[in-house]
Amino acid sequence: MADPTLLDQVKDKANRADPYPLFARLRRTPVSRQHDGTYVAATHGAIASLLGDPRISSETLPPADRPLTGNPFTDWIVKPVRDRITDAHRPFIFRDPPDHDRLRGCVMNQFSTGRVQRMRARSDRLVSDLLEKMCGTREIDIVDDLAYPLPVTVICELFGVPSEDEPKFHGWATQLATALEPDSLEDDEIRAKNSRCFDEISAYMADLIRDKRRHPRDDMLSGLANEDAPGAGRMNDYDLIATSILMLVAGHETTVNLITNGTLALVRHPEALARLRAEPSWAPRVVEEMLRYDPPVQFRTRRALADIEVAGTTIPEGADVVLLLASGNRDEAVFADPDRFDPERGGIRHLGFGGSLHYCVGAPLARFETEAALTALSRRLRNPRLCEDPPPYRTGAALRGPEHLRLAIDGLD
Ligand code: HEM
Repeated sequence: MADPTLLDQVKDKANRADPYPLFARLRRTPVSRQHDGTYVAATHGAIASLLGDPRISSETLPPADRPLTGNPFTDWIVKPVRDRITDAHRPFIFRDPPDHDRLRGCVMNQFSTGRVQRMRARSDRLVSDLLEKMCGTREIDIVDDLAYPLPVTVICELFGVPSEDEPKFHGWATQLATALEPDSLEDDEIRAKNSRCFDEISAYMADLIRDKRRHPRDDMLSGLANEDAPGAGRMNDYDLIATSILMLVAGHETTVNLITNGTLALVRHPEALARLRAEPSWAPRVVEEMLRYDPPVQFRTRRALADIEVAGTTIPEGADVVLLLASGNRDEAVFADPDRFDPERGGIRHLGFGGSLHYCVGAPLARFETEAALTALSRRLRNPRLCEDPPPYRTGAALRGPEHLRLAIDGLD
């Protein structure tokens, strides 16, 4: 067997707590070929250029007429259309223009300033309710007690999912996230569970869409189901289901990890924690630096639609391309002293939300949820200490973050 490539080592769980030295080695060659034919872009310049290149495709899933694997993330076909599968029902993160732009346009049309502002205020209240529940304890788990429950409630309220159904969503989001783990393809039990989960959430969303048509309210799903977006029109039901599931999954685990990675960095840098405690208006800078320093989405995959020359390497047509966003964020050619956590660096051009046409649609939500969480934690936790350093990590290498982050505290202010 060939020696593991640097990318294999990035995916190896043993390197999950600190993959950054591997990224530094990968950056010595801006775009490198791995022995399975995959190309890895590791420098900021190469990644940014590929993100904006129309010859790079996001349609990396197998063609819809391939036999289904049972893993919704590799099949990603909404069940009700399985008997007439078409490529047209993939969520738009896996689609190219013009379909991508049309579907994204429908979603962006629903992100009104008023709606976003309301959710921001709601996030602050949710964080304070979650912290109230921690009163009287001397050990907390940031993941279970705060980072996990917050984004699921925000996305459910935004979409207009009735609050009594939120626990179901929490379960679905947790289960569907396991489908992102590399091992889940091989494990029959996980595959079967994921498939059932996908069926359940698709059926649930189909019912909810029907309900939103009969009784529209002021929420995103009602808007998507009943309103035309200027220039983009209206989604069909299958796209609506695929989009809802995408928003749930894309918006959940990612935000959990940003809150958790952020707390970890702050506890490891007590001077930054003290400053945020004294100066809550510093939070946006902390969050922006977190998206650079330790981003939840470490890499994304694309496919080359033509031979593409980048940074002296030609990526051949048809090759899979890994864009190592987290490595670009530590590129010494762009960021001075890149391994230092420094919220004071201005104008950061991080790749934590990707870039160009697939730039994260949930960025405003992710930012204010994380600001709310980190501000409240810094203000209220008395003398937080890490129970384990490094904390245990989840299996995922692409979507990376601690499984638990236990802190010992002297109480809550
Ligand atoms: C796209 C990161 C939160 C919805 C992306 C991409 C990244 C990203 C890197 C680009 C993917 C690509 O280029 O292939 C994050 C991070 C988050 C976060 C780090 C939290 C800290 C959210 C939230 C939502 C969301 C809260 C929804 C409410 C999406 C969607 C896309 C996307 C729908 C696809 C956009 C497109 O294909 O045009 N996100 N995201 N994300 N994100 Fe986020």
